[in-house]
Amino acid sequence: MQAIGIAALLPVWEAACRTVDISDGPVTIVDYGCSQGRNSMIPMRKAIDVLRFRAGATIPIEVVHTDLPSNDFSSLFEALISDPNSYMTGTSDVFPLAIGKSYFAPLLSPGRVHLGWSTWALQWMSTNAIDAPDHILAGMSSSPAVAAAVAAQQARDWECFLTQRSREMRPGAKLVAGFTARAEADTGWEWLLGELWSAVGDMRNDGLLSEREEEQITIPIGLRSLEDIQAPFRQSGSFADLTLEHLDRVKVSDPFRREFDGSGDRLAFARHHANMTRAWSGPLIASVAPHARKQTVFVDELFSRFEHRLSKDPRPHEPYMATVALSKKDR
Ligand SMILES: C[S@@+](CC[C@H](N)C(=O)[O-])C[C@H]1O[C@@H](n2cnc3c(N)ncnc32)[C@H](O)[C@@H]1O
Repeated sequence: MQAIGIAALLPVWEAACRTVDISDGPVTIVDYGCSQGRNSMIPMRKAIDVLRFRAGATIPIEVVHTDLPSNDFSSLFEALISDPNSYMTGTSDVFPLAIGKSYFAPLLSPGRVHLGWSTWALQWMSTNAIDAPDHILAGMSSSPAVAAAVAAQQARDWECFLTQRSREMRPGAKLVAGFTARAEADTGWEWLLGELWSAVGDMRNDGLLSEREEEQITIPIGLRSLEDIQAPFRQSGSFADLTLEHLDRVKVSDPFRREFDGSGDRLAFARHHANMTRAWSGPLIASVAPHARKQTVFVDELFSRFEHRLSKDPRPHEPYMATVALSKKDR
């Protein structure tokens, strides 16, 4: 799913690489929220190709991958060497680096960055603003108090991210981001995360969780509307010397639908979705799981129930992604 969304963002990224000012020095590209880097290979390769086409085959390029300190940076560096799709393959004078620090803080010295890239990360809030009593995802709660707390946190986080990035961007630098978003009426996550929350409820009904423990299982993700993303720019047309060059919302298609339409195999479809959901949410759920239970046993049980639920009523999972391009004021 991540890769499908990234493919939709690539034309915006390519345009940024074609038009960014690279007249001085080595080019610095930053990949914010890189995880293990598998989904960064294609966009970084694209950037290297476009920049080298513009500036010559030997222009030095730094690629800085950033994520939280707990990230598996070893797998990232391993992939850079051994993944056949690595952007390092067949290139020289490309220098990968990594920073293990939240992007809600300064990461690089002022004016260092030419190009920034971030996908599927900015929906995570910097902190768990509030527990949701009625949903596993904070941003999908129907409680007005939870919705207000999430909206306020998301607004603060967006402005903080923009301010921090603007400081480290050079004049004329570009930043392209894609992250989970919402439309007026829906988010696209209703089926999948509704079933995950129902699986939590099943465990509560079976006495495996208390009411308080159920409430604490809250994933600190909020889903911004296009208006939320635009908000800091509305008054003067720019924010922290950044201008919004592109803003759109795309519906990401279900990566397992074609296989399911061909085979009709509900169990395989459910397993694919359960595994994909566990990959991004499992560590957080384990961290808030009841302390009295072994975390892996708890998460295994939850995702087994989730998979069973998904197999009973398979539907296409088509979430929204916001596509954003920003540019820093030129000299
Ligand atoms: C779903 S992964 C996306 C990985 C990759 N960019 C992709 O598109 O597949 C989200 C990543 O964002 C990282 N992340 C979340 N909050 C972050 C923060 N405040 N600072 C840096 N990274 C963060 C997570 O640790 C995780 O690796």
